[in-house]
Parts: sequence; C-alpha cells; structure tokens
Amino acid sequence: MRARPMAEITTDAGKAAEALHAGRLVAFPTETVYGLGADATDDSAVAAVFEAKGRPRINPLIAHVTDIEAAMGLGRFDESARQLAEAFWPGPLTLVVPRVEGCPVSLLATAGLDTLALRVPAHPLAQALLAAFGGPVVAPSANISGRLSPTEAEHVAESPLAEKVAVILDGDECPVGVESTIIGFDTDGTPVLLRPGGIPREEIEKVLGEPLRTGKGGEGTPSAPGQLSSHYAPRARLRLNAQRPEEGEMFLAFGPDAPKGVPGLNLSPKGDLREAAANLFAYLRILDETGVSSIAVAPIPEYGLGEAINDRLRRAAAPRPGEEEA
Ligand code: TXA
Ligand code: MG
Repeated sequence: MRARPMAEITTDAGKAAEALHAGRLVAFPTETVYGLGADATDDSAVAAVFEAKGRPRINPLIAHVTDIEAAMGLGRFDESARQLAEAFWPGPLTLVVPRVEGCPVSLLATAGLDTLALRVPAHPLAQALLAAFGGPVVAPSANISGRLSPTEAEHVAESPLAEKVAVILDGDECPVGVESTIIGFDTDGTPVLLRPGGIPREEIEKVLGEPLRTGKGGEGTPSAPGQLSSHYAPRARLRLNAQRPEEGEMFLAFGPDAPKGVPGLNLSPKGDLREAAANLFAYLRILDETGVSSIAVAPIPEYGLGEAINDRLRRAAAPRPGEEEA
C-alpha cells in the first residue's frame, strides 16, 4: 500500500498537541502499540475515533494521562488500584476504576459505563504529547477495528487511518509490542485480569501477593464457551501450534529448535518471550504481505508475555464472521 500524504509525520509533540486542541486525531507511539489519540473531553473528537476505526461504540476507550495524580482526578482508586498504579505506572498497565463525580471524560468514550479505563504510558513521546496537551487523551490502537495493531509509524502511515489523522508522531518501534494488561475490579474490590498484555500476570501477582483471577467480559475472555471474536487479524489465515509449515505456508517460528530452511520468520531465535512480543505484530504483517493464504505459527509457551502473545494469536486465528467484526 502507498503512504498517503495527508498526515504530517513528525517527532514534534507540540504540533500533535495543537491538533488535539483543534479537535483533530493524532497517531502517537506508546511503549505497547501506536495509539489513535483524541481529546478525551471532546465528544465529537471521540466520535471521530470510533468512526475512523470502524469500531463499535459499545467498546469503550482507554484514557491516557501523564501520572497517577492526573489519573486520580478522573477515577476512584481503592487500595489495590493504588498499589498497582504505584508499582507499574508509567508502563503497560490499564486500570478500570469508577469515574469520579464530574469526570470530564466524554461519556461516549466509556460507552455509557460508570467505569473508566486509565493508563499512564511510559513512552517519552507519549509523555511529551500528554504534557504538551495538558489533559486526558483517549487512544485505542491505531488500526482499523479487528486488524493487526501498529508497532511502527509506517504501519499507521500505510493504513487507511492515515487519511483520518492530522499528525503521526514518529517514535520508532514500540518496545513492548503487545497492548497493555487491563485490570478491573470486582464489586468487592478484588482485581481481575480483563486482558493479558505487556505486564505479565506473574509480576502483578507478585505485587498483589495472591493469584489474579481472569475476569469475564473483557477482551481476554470468550463471550461464550469455545467462542472467540476475531481481532488482531492479518489477511491470511493462521494455523496455530504448528511444528512446521505445510506446502505454500509461511512459518512464524519461536525459539532455537525451529525447523531450518523453511520460509518465514522467527519471533525470537533465542526463545525470549519479550523479544517475541516486540516482534509479533510486525512479523505477522511481513508474512501477510507475502500474499500467502495461511501462516503456520509455532507453539508459544503460556507464561510471562506468552499469555498475551497467545491471546492475540488465538483471536487472530478465530473465525471471521463479518467485515465489521471487531
Ligand atoms: O496498550 C494499549 O492499551 C493501547 C495503547 C494505545 O495505549 N490501547 C489499546 O486500546 O489497546 P484498545 O481500544 O485497542 O483496547 C482497549 C480495551 C478494549 O478491549 C476495551 O473493551 C477495554 O479496553 N476497556 C476500555 N474501557 C473499559 C471499561 N470501562 N471497562 C472494561 N473494559 C474497558
Ligand atoms: Mg486494539
């Protein structure tokens, strides 16, 4: 696909902040993936985010802020929320907490829920943007709903979203490579994992001092047994837990024991799950662009960042009922 000239690609966070103030959309890097940002308090800018992504309006957005204090001005933090925020912010953790009374974040952004997803990103350009803008910025991943998340400015520039944004902030490759871990809280305050992501479950459990339950209704759990909605999908079909590719397939390998001499890429030849997560979306893109109809994927261990990697792979492999499926 050709790059479209509409959006300005820059490293100037001030320019992007100006665009946000003018009600425009901007793409910006975070440590996880590139986000499609809008002024969280501006209903029409928030509406433009849903529209640009083709995202169902019942799927709420994450509000990004500079620090814990800013987050506490928008959401109510009990003891365990505060503990997790202090342990992992800035970083790839999103906390879903009750909105404070008078919370200025657009109700459209939270799909009418009385909770709000909050995140303090660590990426220096994301921080520079939030500081220059001076308020909360909603940002889903900067991809068309249901497709592969972008981990390089190029991915955004080459996508149809480029026509919808005023500025693309270029911050090189996203170091984490999978979206933030999302934690919500039960009515009794117990933390629940809503989406596995850039902070491994084990690290969160270490801070909490107890096992973390997997919650229902999040992106990370099927809505019915055996049923997963398609998401993070390349054009090609995925065949998971493959030992080697079949004729005509590309192979997405992992680790030092991968079969030699087969066409494809290795997420991490040394078997490092962090490296594999950082490469996941970009490598799926590269293999997809070869035009094959199927990508075979090696088994990935289900611990550490492997839980997030496997979650994305299972969704990418899920049946694709309709074009607008998110
Ligand atoms: O790493 C990330 O989290 C990236 C970067 C750009 O920050 N953002 C991201 O946003 O992944 P998005 O929109 O692709 O995913 C947000 C997820 C969705 O699954 C949504 O359902 C969930 O957060 N979410 C947002 N608000 C929620 C709420 N109030 N309750 C439950 N889930 C919520
Ligand atoms: Mg997304």
